[in-house]
Amino acid sequence: MSNELQSIKNRFGIIGNFPALNRALEKAIQVAPTDISVLVIGESGVGKEFIPKIIHSESKRKHQPYIVVNCGAIPEGTIDSELFGHEKGAFTGATATRKGYFEVADGGTIFLDEVGELPLQTQVRLLRVLESGEFMKVGSSQVQKTNVRIVAATNVNMMKAIQDGRFREDLYYRLNTVQIDMPPLRERKGDIHLLFRKFAIDFAEKYRMPELELEPGAVHYIENYTFPGNVRQLRNLVEQMTVVERNRHVTVEKLAEYIPMESHLPMVVNTPNSQKQSDFGSEREIMYKILFDMRSDINDLKSLTSELIKNRGTSDLSNHEKNLINRIYTPESQQNVAPSSLLYFENGNNNNNSAIQNPTIISEPENSYEDIEDIEIEEHRPESLSLQNNEKDLIIKALEKHKGRRNKAADELGISQRTLYRKIKQYNLEE
Ligand SMILES: Nc1ncnc2c1ncn2[C@@H]1O[C@H](COP(=O)(O)OP(=O)(O)O)[C@@H](O)[C@H]1O
Ligand SMILES: [Mg+2]
Repeated sequence: MSNELQSIKNRFGIIGNFPALNRALEKAIQVAPTDISVLVIGESGVGKEFIPKIIHSESKRKHQPYIVVNCGAIPEGTIDSELFGHEKGAFTGATATRKGYFEVADGGTIFLDEVGELPLQTQVRLLRVLESGEFMKVGSSQVQKTNVRIVAATNVNMMKAIQDGRFREDLYYRLNTVQIDMPPLRERKGDIHLLFRKFAIDFAEKYRMPELELEPGAVHYIENYTFPGNVRQLRNLVEQMTVVERNRHVTVEKLAEYIPMESHLPMVVNTPNSQKQSDFGSEREIMYKILFDMRSDINDLKSLTSELIKNRGTSDLSNHEKNLINRIYTPESQQNVAPSSLLYFENGNNNNNSAIQNPTIISEPENSYEDIEDIEIEEHRPESLSLQNNEKDLIIKALEKHKGRRNKAADELGISQRTLYRKIKQYNLEE
């Protein structure tokens, strides 16, 4: 392996040695110094977001802005204005002229995540800016220039989207000057145990627990699991087990409670060349896929609100809005929620972005807890009480550690003081 590849892996915390993964990373390093548009293709959770980060950090644009736009998370009505800005009075509520990301990112890189979700009218504007560097603010007839490098990513079948008239073919070819394919986790079995160990170390440190270890049988089992949610699913699995499991030695039986073999369904694979579908359980597959996508959407929305709250604070929110936010982030029905959701605001974002100067993350779907697997866990483990106990334990630990100081404990748990008070009441922890 080239030194450069190894150093990129170290810098970004990328684990794995599978040839197709190495090829993808090498391609990113190769095209980085150019201004060529890159389209990253791969299922959800395979690590597509590393690619634009590598490209930006290895390009001459690295000291300029890097902006992530999740095209699937911005409402259709506002996306043009978000991307290209608007003039004062362009629409109701446009009380001032506003710059869009394409203006703000001049000289830098924009990562268009879930580009397949862009509405058609936005695709027209995007094609124009890609071809000529020209754009107009919404409600303006004045042409502006910008110099932005585009990296886009998608997990939808673009050929199908084109056939269905949802995506412009000309834009597809313009974005896809270079294509980088990220392989699904089930195709790189050899990386699964490596990744498990990395996450076991990371989460042991984060939660100050001893590291999880897979017993030999469990290694074989996990390597043969299909991981429909890919690395994100594996990461969440290790996080949950780190917090919930008392025994640090993970057996096959234990693992099977989290990822039961009977759910090893052939998945709908979203690469352009594989439209084949197995006859077996295809309806269930589709439901599974829809649930999975919905879950991602919900988490994207959560990320978006949490970003907004972080940036703007909560002082000008109404009580009703605050209540809503509280409800979204700390569901009342704790028996349906694993304790790690408590830690949502902590956001585990130790993605080693140090290579990137002040990245502006507009909407990054990076959550500490986001996959469908927890739905399955609820189905297969009648242990909601033990989840509650674990939550209670975590709270007790945090309170002990901070000698009863609730503000510190709440910080540590990544929840609001109000939520902590509520939970202290709920679990009768008042001394
Ligand atoms: N090879 C890898 N090594 C370490 N972490 C990885 C790897 N691939 C993915 N991840 C982690 O998995 C999660 C999902 O990756 P992400 O890039 O968001 O996926 P997506 O393809 O859906 O954009 C992130 O937390 C990311 O850091
Ligand atoms: Mg992503």
